[in-house]
Amino acid sequence: MTQNLGHMLEDGTISDGDFARIAGLVRAMTGIDLQPHKRAMVAARLAKRLRATGISSVSEYCSRLENGTAGAEKDHFVNAYTTNMTRFNREEHHFEHLAEHTLPALIDKARRGGRVRIWSAGCSSGEEPYGLAFHVLDLCPDAHKYDIKILATDIDLEILDRAATGHYPRMSTETLDAKQASAYFEPVQGKTDQMSVVGAARNLIAFRQLNLHGDWPFSGKFDVIICRNVAIYFDVPTQSKLWRRFGEALTDDGSLFIGHSEGIDADNADRFETVGRGVFKTTRAHQKSAGNGKSLEMGKAV
Ligand SMILES: C[S@@+](CC[C@H](N)C(=O)[O-])C[C@H]1O[C@@H](n2cnc3c(N)ncnc32)[C@H](O)[C@@H]1O
Repeated sequence: MTQNLGHMLEDGTISDGDFARIAGLVRAMTGIDLQPHKRAMVAARLAKRLRATGISSVSEYCSRLENGTAGAEKDHFVNAYTTNMTRFNREEHHFEHLAEHTLPALIDKARRGGRVRIWSAGCSSGEEPYGLAFHVLDLCPDAHKYDIKILATDIDLEILDRAATGHYPRMSTETLDAKQASAYFEPVQGKTDQMSVVGAARNLIAFRQLNLHGDWPFSGKFDVIICRNVAIYFDVPTQSKLWRRFGEALTDDGSLFIGHSEGIDADNADRFETVGRGVFKTTRAHQKSAGNGKSLEMGKAV
């Protein structure tokens, strides 16, 4: 019986009711909107989870998630429906904008004793926050002396664990500027095809699990939020809420970077002004509505 059900799901066959129930759970838990064309993927990943847990019916599996008796399976379920595709230097123009326009003033602020906080939200396996750290170090090799921190968050614990290792296949560093690839990586002993991010870059970053669709434990504000290719998986109301919350989480002249397929909706248009491709600054309208932002204290995390 279990095997037959597993085969059905692996073939991409899932009933309307089961698909709707899984999609509803994923939406409620993560904000991710699974469209009907993802049906085969939903079925295949569900089959894998049923096999791993030994649970014999979709209904029982969903009930456990719904009534809070799923335990650690909750994380595995969420991980099964996230898309973690990323690479070093993805949307290179953002890193150019950061290096030329955003970071110099922030490093100046840090050198004058100020606090600088950068948030990579939906950081996946870490290429994005490490890339940010490389640019900070390019401009400020002694960054460890100042109060500069990069918070890197994702909902997916497995991918965060991988990010925290700072180990990458040598080939994956090839999309970086050659100078950065040689300055910020060292070989991993005993593994010729693996490179490790150097300590100076790692030390700037704190990796934490955070659900963008849940509560945010911040008591301060960010100078930069970079959240790319994450909101694209959310439905429109969830995206709109996210832009509003980012506006509130940014300092008065904070910068928001979003992915090439993402856009700020009309409800949030007066919070941000466009200053580059997928780059926004908070506006005066926002400053009035959000009050005067003090610098970040992210609970105990950063
Ligand atoms: C496609 S990756 C984007 C990675 C990187 N930002 C980039 O642009 O290359 C999307 C990431 O968003 C994460 N994600 C999806 N839903 C999330 C949520 N509700 N809260 C936090 N992270 C989420 C996924 O786990 C995944 O790692």
